[in-house]
Amino acid sequence: ELNCWAGTVVGGVSDDLSRTNVFNAKTAEVIIHHQVEINQSFPKEGWVEEDPREIIQSVYECIEKTCKKLCHLNIDIGNIKAVGVTNQRETTLVWDKVTGEPLYNAIVWLDLRTQSTVERLINKHKTGLPISTYFSAVKLRWLLDNVDMVQQAVLTGRAMFGTVDSWIIWCLTGGRKGGIHCTDVSNASRTMLFNIHTMDWDHELCSYFDIPMELLPKVKSSSEIYGRMHELKRLIHKCCLGDQSAALVGQMCFKDGQTKNTYGTGCFMLRNTGNKPVMSEHGLLTTVAYKMGPDQPPCYALEGSVAIAGAVVRWLKDNMGIVQSSAEIEKLAASAGTSYGCYFVPAFSGLYAPYWEPSARGIICGLTQFTNKSHLAFAALEAVCFQTREIVDAMNKDSGVPLVQLQVDGGMTANRLLMQLQADILGVSVVKPSMSETTALGAAMAAGAAEGVKVWSLSPSDLPRITSEKYEPQINSDESEFRFARWKKAVQRSMNWET
Ligand code: G3P
Repeated sequence: ELNCWAGTVVGGVSDDLSRTNVFNAKTAEVIIHHQVEINQSFPKEGWVEEDPREIIQSVYECIEKTCKKLCHLNIDIGNIKAVGVTNQRETTLVWDKVTGEPLYNAIVWLDLRTQSTVERLINKHKTGLPISTYFSAVKLRWLLDNVDMVQQAVLTGRAMFGTVDSWIIWCLTGGRKGGIHCTDVSNASRTMLFNIHTMDWDHELCSYFDIPMELLPKVKSSSEIYGRMHELKRLIHKCCLGDQSAALVGQMCFKDGQTKNTYGTGCFMLRNTGNKPVMSEHGLLTTVAYKMGPDQPPCYALEGSVAIAGAVVRWLKDNMGIVQSSAEIEKLAASAGTSYGCYFVPAFSGLYAPYWEPSARGIICGLTQFTNKSHLAFAALEAVCFQTREIVDAMNKDSGVPLVQLQVDGGMTANRLLMQLQADILGVSVVKPSMSETTALGAAMAAGAAEGVKVWSLSPSDLPRITSEKYEPQINSDESEFRFARWKKAVQRSMNWET
């Protein structure tokens, strides 16, 4: 039984968390997990940073504690057949390959400091991405323009750029003593420097942003052996996938048209479009979903990215003090059962898909003297569902095939009220796996399927069966359309609040 295990996920870094999970290869059950929180800092309005040292320390701690827990269960870590890494995408780091030290904090994907830089033109059809502060190239440009230590390291040939996966993999495979500087296609496709047609770094884009190509990691497939984990002094194989791609795999969305939505800090819906990139006409991104082996063709996805989902609950907790814990939001919102005509557009980082409007700002409208914090809590949850509805509408228009059921995952899906609201506002069933670690499972599956590991084959007969729960719409479409129309009016105001 034990010999059948596949994979663990090291550094499943969500914005404020690293987590390791060890899965049973046959059942996909989590045997052991450990997690460590990571701090975010907000040095200026619109800036969001994390300390790369803290990120890697949290990963080391997760690995150490996980190994100890395995020991307590009398399980040898040699039973782990493969290790996968999954990560928040776009977040940008630069470090010194000689000292192994980061040269600046990680600039998190939500960060808005590059707003003035992004106004420059970008060839959307090569990268599949629209102009936005979201992607790594503009963040790296900012570091090159503004941080002396980065400039010096570039001049002396010591600088390395990477997203969080690259940083973790480089550190885990030895760091300055021969660490492997790589990334996978799913993360590379979020930089704006990667050509999603040729599947390589693009000379023209790099010269457009004036990014020296020697800074960039080697791009690998999402499922192959990257190297040996230095700390454990034994061969443990690796792969990596950006978190949203990993969730697509963890939800077993391998076929053209299959779609998942992950509710984390933001909300990210990916629709598998098979082996061809589909360019959206309705504000969605074209991205590389995964490439399951060096000789396999890439699989693409249409993506609807929403910047603020779980982050609106965190804002109500940390900035407004309306709840003490994120879990409390469900009870508070349920106590009202309605927003009483209050609409909350949490455009804290501008609006991403389908609007791509960096100057939009958060707005709450429809307040009366009757409005209280429970209505506000309800409006915040509804906002997550309305934003998802906008993405579903855009995907339906792009594909011409209406979505009949939405597969969901991510931390916020524990909120049953949110899930019911989502089914009501979409008018389709919402299906949530009972196993909550979908993203981590996807990374472990990609690792377990790598050539030379092959604990999983990713063929339908070999995939683990995961039970799920289903939410059906409970309101009529007139009611949901009425509320959605009001939401859209509020969105227009969030985009024009200054005029
Ligand atoms: O593109 C950003 C995404 O990869 C991060 O997801 O919501 O887990 O922070 P999230």
